[in-house]
Amino acid sequence: MSNILVLNGSARPNAFTAEMIRSFCRGAETVGHRVTVIDLCKLDIHCCIGCLNGGRDREHPCVQRDDMDTIYAELRKADVIVFATPLFFWSYSGLLKNVIDRLWALAEYDRSELIGKGRGGALLVAAGGSHPELLYEHFDHMMKRLAWRNLGKAAMLHTDDMDMRAIPECEAAYMLGASVGKREEQ
Ligand SMILES: Cc1cc2nc3c(=O)[nH]c(=O)nc-3n(C[C@H](O)[C@H](O)[C@H](O)COP(=O)(O)O)c2cc1C
Repeated sequence: MSNILVLNGSARPNAFTAEMIRSFCRGAETVGHRVTVIDLCKLDIHCCIGCLNGGRDREHPCVQRDDMDTIYAELRKADVIVFATPLFFWSYSGLLKNVIDRLWALAEYDRSELIGKGRGGALLVAAGGSHPELLYEHFDHMMKRLAWRNLGKAAMLHTDDMDMRAIPECEAAYMLGASVGKREEQ
């Protein structure tokens, strides 16, 4: 059983990223994982100010005092972190990118707080069109540099052509959720 933390980078509660997360959770919970979803749009998380001055206090690794402290606490408990995002300009949403940047403060406290630790990462992306490749490349690189196991990706493409009132179950996200444990054992 793994503790899975899903960082939801979408600002729309009933749209495509949220539906992918629901599918992922169904898959993960079917095989007994515990999943915590954090809707970043409900939190007050500022952008990184680039001071490189963090890491003095384990409870508050960043110099800024905002809801990022919730993320640090949840991240410490998680075996798997899922980055869930709408594709914005071929990349992460700003909501999620701000959180990713702010993770650096953990490494400023102690590299091992961020790097390795046997963690795994996965990516969920909802895209209006059909080109998430640059995001995939970034995610793969990030997993490598963080020394987290790359547990895979799931995408829902062409959402701009879909009806938001009838979003289908995302089979790829469900399968990813259900396979996290298996991939962890590899
Ligand atoms: C600011 C902005 C930028 C976007 N950039 C892209 C993009 O680069 N590629 C793409 O395929 N879709 C793009 N889209 C469409 C979104 O990826 C799509 O609407 C997605 O379903 C949004 O996720 P949500 O339904 O969870 O809000 C963009 C949408 C917005 C609002």
